[in-house]
Amino acid sequence: MIKNKLALLGGEPLINIGGPHKVWPPKADDNELEEIKAQRNIDISIKGKTGPIKELEDLFLNFLDNKIKYCVSFNSGTSALLAAYFAMGIEEDDEVMGPALTYHAALSPVYFLKGNVILVDINKETRCIEVENIEKFINKKTKVITVVHQWGHPADMDKIMKIAKEHSLLVLEDCSHAHGSRYKGKMCGTFGDVAIFSLQAQKMIFAGEGGILVTNNEKYYNRATLLGHYRDRSKEEVKDSKYNEYWQTGFGLKLRISPFNAIVAKHSLMNYEKHKKNRHRCLNYLNEGLKEIDYIENIYTDEHVDRGAWYGFKPLYIKEKLYDLDKDKLVEALRAEGMHISAPSGAILANQPLYKNIPDLMFNNRKAKKINKLNNYPNAIDIQKRALSLPTFSNWDRDKNIIDQYILAFKKIQDNIKYLKK
Ligand SMILES: Cc1ncc(COP(=O)(O)O)c(C=O)c1O
Repeated sequence: MIKNKLALLGGEPLINIGGPHKVWPPKADDNELEEIKAQRNIDISIKGKTGPIKELEDLFLNFLDNKIKYCVSFNSGTSALLAAYFAMGIEEDDEVMGPALTYHAALSPVYFLKGNVILVDINKETRCIEVENIEKFINKKTKVITVVHQWGHPADMDKIMKIAKEHSLLVLEDCSHAHGSRYKGKMCGTFGDVAIFSLQAQKMIFAGEGGILVTNNEKYYNRATLLGHYRDRSKEEVKDSKYNEYWQTGFGLKLRISPFNAIVAKHSLMNYEKHKKNRHRCLNYLNEGLKEIDYIENIYTDEHVDRGAWYGFKPLYIKEKLYDLDKDKLVEALRAEGMHISAPSGAILANQPLYKNIPDLMFNNRKAKKINKLNNYPNAIDIQKRALSLPTFSNWDRDKNIIDQYILAFKKIQDNIKYLKK
């Protein structure tokens, strides 16, 4: 029983270790800094598949158990997604199905190609697309199922691949949260027709800004390459003569990664196992500790998956177990104790103007259609309402004591709730 007065009511904060509590990305070592320094005078804009860009892409294919043939890097995950949808041939009025609660750019490039996004509710446990709901939305226009392995937990790939096969649909895996996650032993990113990985700074394999697209399909590789890379890269890499004639111009955009970002990504990839081990140790320990807290629903991980990068730690609040205290009030009380806690920032997509209507403002003469209705997503709404966001602790030696104090702070609220509810 922790009897000290709650900090929100004027007591001493329980957490006495100062911030920041989330420290990511980790600092570069000397090798990485030396390589960045040397690259400055070698080439600051690589046009082909050479130098650190080639090294990164080759290492990435190796990271995916050498199960994938083609890899092409981009200047962001969003660019890689645009290239993926373009590569798979999304065109006007085609439909792409994806999860209702995720990062908006997993699906928004579809609008750029004048396709439509059909949002599907999420599974309460995995927080990925709810497989049981997918078939309800399939029609003649459906082309792609987009799977986001949310917070590192793989989606139910056996069922998704079966549905895709039965209905001749393509599958795009967005592995931005799930670098190195496995479903029944198989790497995320090796199931679908195309997979992308954001390498933005908060991701486990980080470039700062960057993205990777992988596929076993030569046509998709050619189209993705031509969309974002012209001259050297397209000339050398696009072998099919039909596509290769575009090598001078590509399909018009320049979305390539900078060599500096590729070096950073390469080093973070080389440190992946170390970072993963450290993060899993911290987050499993925190998750175990939270089992003592009645009003918190732990992070669920299916027994046949490996969470890999485990991007984000978002347990759920059970209001009824804390005398119906509002989530905002709970967050305020925990913050007063010194905890770095918030409500997750991502909005339900169906509530965003971009997703609510098929966007008319993006293009002239396009009529808005109402496709995604907020009341169709009970699980996404419930998760959004109840989720808490804690630091993704990743350094056991530094973070263990902070985690212990976090668990005690949750307990302190539990033990003293009667004072808050007064
Ligand atoms: C699931 C998901 N997809 C795509 C992206 C976009 O990646 P980027 O920020 O590299 O453009 C993100 C970024 O956080 C993401 O979380």
